[in-house]
This record gives sequence, C-alpha cells and structure tokens, in this order.
Amino acid sequence: MTSFPTVRMRRMRQNEKLRSLVRETRLSVEQLIYPLFIAEGIQEPREITSMPGIMQWPVEHVGREVERIAKLGIPAVLLFGIPSEKDEVGSQAYATQGIVQQAIQRIKAESPDTLVITDVCLCEYTSHGHCGVIRNGDVHNDESLGLLSRMALSHVEAGADIVAPSDMMDGRIGTIRHALDEHGFSQTPVMAYSAKFASGFYGPFREAADSTPQFGDRRSYQMDSANAREALREVELDIAEGADIVMVKPAMPYLDIIRQVRDYCDLPIAAYNVSGEFSMIKAAAQNGWIDERRVVMEVLIGIRRAGADMIITYFAPDVAKWLKEE
Ligand code: PBG
Repeated sequence: MTSFPTVRMRRMRQNEKLRSLVRETRLSVEQLIYPLFIAEGIQEPREITSMPGIMQWPVEHVGREVERIAKLGIPAVLLFGIPSEKDEVGSQAYATQGIVQQAIQRIKAESPDTLVITDVCLCEYTSHGHCGVIRNGDVHNDESLGLLSRMALSHVEAGADIVAPSDMMDGRIGTIRHALDEHGFSQTPVMAYSAKFASGFYGPFREAADSTPQFGDRRSYQMDSANAREALREVELDIAEGADIVMVKPAMPYLDIIRQVRDYCDLPIAAYNVSGEFSMIKAAAQNGWIDERRVVMEVLIGIRRAGADMIITYFAPDVAKWLKEE
C-alpha cells in the first residue's frame, strides 16, 4: 500500500471546487419535510416557548404559511393537530371536520402542489395523552387500531397525500393499509414511524402539541433506546404489513439505527430530527455558543450520510434559504 509522502490526503481538500467534486453526500431542499402545528380555537399564530420561531397556526393562516414553504422549494409538510376538545377516545382525531381534516382541505385548495403528510396518532386528541385507548390502566393495542385506521382514512378522504402513523401500536400499518385499500385509496403511501424510540427529545413537542401523558409514560409502546436489533424487527414487520417508507426517530442519537436500516432494506428511509434536537441547537445558538447554520448543516448531512433519504426537520425553511446561498 502506498502511503505518505506519495499519498497526501490534503491534495483534494485545497479548495471548494475540489472538495465539492469529491463530496460523497449531499443535502438538497427536495429531501426536506417541514412539520406544522395547527391549533383549533386560536386567532393568531402562537410561538411555542421551547421552540423559538416555531408556531401553532390557526387553520385560517395555514394556506398562506404552506405557500411560503412551497416557495422555498420544500416539497412536503407534516401536519399535527391540536384540538380544543379532548376525550377518552380521541374523537376529534377522526372527526370529518377535525382540525387536521380542515387544514388539509385548505392547503389542498391554496397550495395544491405541496405534499401533505399527516401524523396519525391519538395522543394530541385523548384527555389522558396516550397514543391509544386505555383499558385497565394500559394502552389497549387492538382496540386502538380501529380508531387509528379511521383517523388515517379521514385524513386521506380530506385530501392527504401520505399518512404517517406514529403511535407504535402493533399491526397498525397493516390495518391502515387494509382500510385505505378497502376504501379505494390503494395509491396512498404509508410512511411508518417504524423505529420510534421512547425519548426525552420529544419534550418541546409535547408543549407544542399539548400531548404529555397524564399518567405513566410511553415505554410500553415506544422502543427502548438501547435496542438496535429490535428496531430492525420493527422495520421488517412494517415492510411485511405494507409500509412504503420507514422512519427512524429521533435522528441524532440514532444515526447507527439509520445506517443499519439502510443496510438491511431497500425502502426509502425518513429520519425525524425531532423537537429536542431543534431546541438544543437553538438554545446554544442564542447563547452565542455555536454557529447555528454550520451546526444545523453538519447535523443534517450526518443524518444523510447515515443513510436517510428524507429528513423531517423544523429547520427546513432556514436550510432551504441557506442551500440557495451556497
Ligand atoms: C406522536 C408524536 C410525537 C412526535 C411526533 N409524533 C410525540 C411523542 O411520541 O410523544 C415527536 C416529534 C418531535 O419531538 O418533534 N403523535
């Protein structure tokens, strides 16, 4: 093997043209998905305290906001709803005129080319804040499935392009796939939150979506952060049930999982750069401790290098602008 001084690694790092020529991983705006929170019963956008610059939107404003996102070249939004009424079974999650169903209709009317992805999960809609129905103090898997597929179907009927179940009940992908097919939506893709870990990084989201569990935690359905083989089993099952895209979430502490899923299957992979990952960087940047733009670009390229095809990130609008400047 030839080595120094014949080989000099620094030769290809001399200027940006050379560096760009040998760059192995790229990030482009077409790979970004921007999450949006739509809240019922508010008149003006309300900033989420723990997520500077991220808003809860009144449904009347959402069309305009999506248009702004579309102009930046971002192809897709991921919708979360915050209803004004919650109950034991999350009825507003699958109400025909629920908050997300209304938002989908508006977006499709005002910014029709934007892909609308919807989060399918009951936790924002249940009074107890869990992702399914409660029986004997625990989340009942099979009884929750029917509600989740009703929710997914109501989103698709309202015009959603992709549904993204995030509840981590067993069998949800197959149940939802079946429900969509039965109602003539065999062309609607399912993005499965396959490897979703029980994570402290969801903290700011729970303020944003008002979905903190009122008792206990989500460890009986979300994954233990120590487990990688189990993540591959989750992915395998979701593929068998008909997932079109598999997701790893959160992203930064789980780059090894993204890589293993990439090596394990050929499906498109989404990575969710979650609220805590966003807020942590924002807080450090606001203190002047890190250079926000540099750090965000480094994080996102790291997620791409690990193997993700698409990234769900609250930084999407900033990144879209930065990519234009490069
Ligand atoms: C569940 C859901 C959560 C997130 C996305 N979908 C929260 C949870 O499981 O507690 C987290 C997203 C984020 O932190 O940015 N509906």
